[in-house]
Amino acid sequence: MSTRDNSGLMTTIQAFDYPTVVESRFPGLIDKLRKFIQESENKYEGGNGRSESFLWEHTLHAASIAFQLAQAERLDPLVPVVAALFHDAGKFAGGEYHGKETIEEEESARIAGRLLPRFGMKAPEIRKVAAALKALYNENSRKNRLAAILHDADFLSKFGALGVAEFFTKSVLRGRPLRSAVLGYLSKELTYAACLPLNMHTAAGRKLAAKKASSSLRFFRSLLAELREAQIASLSVKHIRIPHPSFRGRFLKVQYVVSPACPECGGSWDMVWNTEKGIKCQRLHIDWACAHCGERLETSFCLPEIA
Ligand SMILES: [Fe+2]
Repeated sequence: MSTRDNSGLMTTIQAFDYPTVVESRFPGLIDKLRKFIQESENKYEGGNGRSESFLWEHTLHAASIAFQLAQAERLDPLVPVVAALFHDAGKFAGGEYHGKETIEEEESARIAGRLLPRFGMKAPEIRKVAAALKALYNENSRKNRLAAILHDADFLSKFGALGVAEFFTKSVLRGRPLRSAVLGYLSKELTYAACLPLNMHTAAGRKLAAKKASSSLRFFRSLLAELREAQIASLSVKHIRIPHPSFRGRFLKVQYVVSPACPECGGSWDMVWNTEKGIKCQRLHIDWACAHCGERLETSFCLPEIA
C-alpha cells in the first residue's frame, strides 16, 4: 500500500485516512499483515494463485469502520484500527479454518502479540489489542470499549452496499452461485440485518447500524422480487418469533426465506425449528418437509446476540 507516496497532498484528507495514520506510526505493518492474511487465505484454498484476498478486503473495510466509530466515540483511533486490522488474522491459521479447534480470536491475539513488537508498538498498547481480540468471543466484548468497537465494526462491515457485495463475493468464492447463496444463507442475512441495531455495543455503532440495516433489507427484498420475476427462485420472507436465548421473557424476530410451496410437487410445507447451544453461540435450526412428497429443506445459523 503506497500510503506514503502522496504524503505532501491534502493534509486535511489525511486526517481521515486510517492507513496513513497507521503507516506513520508503524511503517510496513499494513503491508506485512496484507501478505500474511493473503497467504493464509491462499493456503486455506489450496493455493488459489490469486494475488488478491477476500479476507484482506474485509479486513480493510472493518478497519475503516473501526476508525469511524473510534472517532465518533471520542477515542484515539490508532489502537482500534490496529486491532481491527488483526481481528481476522487468525481465521485461516496454518491454512485451516478452525483447525485443531483453535479459537480464531485467540489465534489473532497471538499473531498480534508476535508481530506488533517488531513494528514498534509499546507493550501496554499490545496488551490492549490482545485483550480486545480475546474479548471478542466472550461476553466481555460489551465491557471492553475497544472490543465493543471491533465487534460493531465487524458486524457493520457485513451490511450496506459494500457488505452485501462482500456477502455475494464470498458466496462465489466458496462455490455458491446466486440461487444457492440466497436459498442457503439469506435467512441469516435478513435476521442479522433486522437485528443489527440491537446487536451493537456502541452508540456510534447503533446509529450506523440503523442506516445499514434498512438499506440492506430494502436491497434483499428487491432482490427476492427480481428473482421471482426472472423465475430463478420463488422465495418469500416469513418470520417466526423465538424466545430470546439470553433474556427470559423476550423474543427475537427471525426472518427466513422459503418457497411458498414445495418446488418438487407444489405441496405445502411442515416446518419445525429448534435451538441448541453451540460452542460460540445459540444455534437455530429450521427444517421443512413437504407434506405431500417428503422433500426436505433445512437452514441453520447462529442467532445474533442482542442487548
Ligand atoms: Fe471479520
